[in-house]
Amino acid sequence: MDSILRAEGVDLFYGTFQAVRSADFALERGEVAAIMGSSGSGKSSLLYCLAGVLPPSSGQVVFDDIELGALPDGELSALRRERLGFVFQYGELLPELTVQENAALPLRLAGISKDHADAVAAQVLGRLGLGDLLRRRTSKLSGGQSQRVAVARALVHRPDVVFADEPTGALDSANAETVLNEFLHLARRQKTAVVIVTHAPEVAAKADKQYTMSDGVLTQRVTV
Ligand SMILES: Nc1ncnc2c1ncn2[C@@H]1O[C@H](COP(=O)(O)OP(=O)(O)OP(=O)(O)O)[C@@H](O)[C@H]1O
Ligand SMILES: [Mg+2]
Repeated sequence: MDSILRAEGVDLFYGTFQAVRSADFALERGEVAAIMGSSGSGKSSLLYCLAGVLPPSSGQVVFDDIELGALPDGELSALRRERLGFVFQYGELLPELTVQENAALPLRLAGISKDHADAVAAQVLGRLGLGDLLRRRTSKLSGGQSQRVAVARALVHRPDVVFADEPTGALDSANAETVLNEFLHLARRQKTAVVIVTHAPEVAAKADKQYTMSDGVLTQRVTV
């Protein structure tokens, strides 16, 4: 089967410090991969490389047979906008926009009409339990509510792959699990492949593949 996302020998240096060491990774359509590992081990750095946010120092990332490093900047950002989704570790919503406007953003950027984009955003937000907050500015949300808006925004345009960097970091463990279950369920309904960084073993257990990051080295955990 052709992988939707594949990385081979990815290294990432920040100056002389090597944050990612020769990482290999592969994901099929609709598959969920979990990445665990201690703080500072390089999980976010790897995610940035896989998602085309940062170019690897060496090695390659191939999305749907397209090598990201070979794309001109404009094409790479269009591909990221249209076919990938990213839930950042720190949310990164636009505080002046409403919940619905934030979630609808990827569709608006793809040229979809405001009415249609708003309607789709409302549906996804509803499934994540935010149906009553559509018109609230995101500056006036709780941490967990903000994270769910970020999840909705990453999924609303039905990307092929969504990258989620500890999307429930601001939640207690019970709420975190509820939100993650909704997120994974929604992604699976849409056949979106998911790469999720998580500290929760019970979440990682639900993924099809488990990876661990340690001092920049990515290892796939093999279950026997
Ligand atoms: N822009 C940067 N410049 C220099 N070093 C960086 C930069 N970003 C991250 N690092 C370093 O690279 C290492 C990996 O960082 P990264 O953010 O990928 O870790 P992480 O596994 O996501 O950690 P956490 O669980 O705390 O989010 C850390 O030692 C960090 O200090
Ligand atoms: Mg991180």
